[in-house]
Amino acid sequence: MALDIIVGAQWGDEGKGRIVDLLSAQADVVARFNGGDNAGHTVNVAGQTFKLHLIPSGIIHPRPVGIMGNGMVINPLTLLKELDMLAENGVTLSPGRLQISYAAHLITPAHRALDQAQEKSRGQGQIGTTGRGIGPAYTDKASRRGLRMADMLDPKSFAEKMAAHINDTNLILQKLYGAEPLDANQVAEEYRVCAEKIAPYISDTAQFLAQALKQGRSILAEGAQGTLLDIDHGTYPYVTSSPTTAAGVLSGLGLGISPIGRVIGATKSFQTRVGSGPFPTEVFDEDAVRLRGTGANPWDEFGTTTGRPRRVGWLDTVLLRYAARVNGLTELVITKMDVLSGLPSVRICSAYRAGSETFHELPLGPADLSPYTPVYEDLPGWQADLTGLRSAAQLPAEARAYLRRIEELTGVPVSLVSVGPERSQVIQLN
Ligand code: GDP
Ligand code: IMO
Ligand code: MG
Repeated sequence: MALDIIVGAQWGDEGKGRIVDLLSAQADVVARFNGGDNAGHTVNVAGQTFKLHLIPSGIIHPRPVGIMGNGMVINPLTLLKELDMLAENGVTLSPGRLQISYAAHLITPAHRALDQAQEKSRGQGQIGTTGRGIGPAYTDKASRRGLRMADMLDPKSFAEKMAAHINDTNLILQKLYGAEPLDANQVAEEYRVCAEKIAPYISDTAQFLAQALKQGRSILAEGAQGTLLDIDHGTYPYVTSSPTTAAGVLSGLGLGISPIGRVIGATKSFQTRVGSGPFPTEVFDEDAVRLRGTGANPWDEFGTTTGRPRRVGWLDTVLLRYAARVNGLTELVITKMDVLSGLPSVRICSAYRAGSETFHELPLGPADLSPYTPVYEDLPGWQADLTGLRSAAQLPAEARAYLRRIEELTGVPVSLVSVGPERSQVIQLN
């Protein structure tokens, strides 16, 4: 085992963070390769809850080095808050233990303001972004006018670049969107203070990772978001602005073509999404409350980053099979099996129908799912509380049959299921 990968196989929030935490016990390095603080990864360890947005979820274990790769977009204010939060909870990260790529891009207040102004201007066609400036930061990267972590290392030129960036964006904010301009000097000063604190963490993480691989150390690459939010392979345009799939790992970490071990797709036992866009198996009213919860439990389906209620529905194996293909998944991890306990039957979407035709594959990918109606199978539910179970043999026969059906429909083995949010609430299957 050299480089293992874990990605979301749905629209994000699959429980990747807690699975990364689990698998990081054996990892030497845990590395985020995409996205920014649009991500929200919840990890529960012995009664402590960590909500991570930027720092890799494996960092709570004492052993692995945490890497934030060049594929990320980083808001330094969020990063400093997160470092403080971790330190307050007993996880102090010195430079060396956490390393940030010099080539990762910066998110600035101008990106956030632009993200919010653009969303407002979309009216009914809103993407439902997290408002964290992700799209504008990646836009600046692709337009070759972004600011990178390395820019923070030279205070004088950094202040000039920041001020120029804010002034440029102010023109767009004011002229195009009628939004308030930002104070360039104030932002430059705020970021100067951040830069001083973050500078010691900035390095050539790609070189570190290549060396680690050469030495046979194990790297776990952690994806943010999910396959269906991938900029190319997701439900475009209702996607995020980065590659979220396994292929993004190498470019997002600066690695050459390398031997890859496990490619793990995390999926919930049902389907959720935050924000707009197609969702063929979505349910509403009481069915939705049953899957979402009311907010009474910490794991109920309300966004970690924004607190928005998540849209919910039945597991869609047409989309899961698609995720298996575009990522090259070698295994599935299924979270939140406990949430389905008590239902008389559990629905699973096994195909789509359009007119008289049945589809198991999407002819033109998932961007336009409006022609399709889900074809459902209703499997017997299980009544037992799963939260205390720790072995496959203890699972009710109906739960095992549900998992087997997912394996049949996707062609991917299920290696692990989780039955509660705590680190220990997992069952190894294969
Ligand atoms: P991520 O973005 O993929 O890391 O997922 P999030 O952390 O945003 O959302 C997953 C939510 O489900 C968090 O509140 C987790 O604590 C919770 N969770 C994860 N696995 C399980 C599980 O097996 N059972 C229950 N009840 N909650 C879980
Ligand atoms: P994790 O890593 C769920 C969604 C937003 C919106 C779309 C674009 O916790 O799984 P963006 O702010 O990225 O431009 O928003 O993507 N989105 C997520 N949904 N989990 C996430 O991350 C998400 N990150 C972005 O809701 O629909
Ligand atoms: Mg999340």
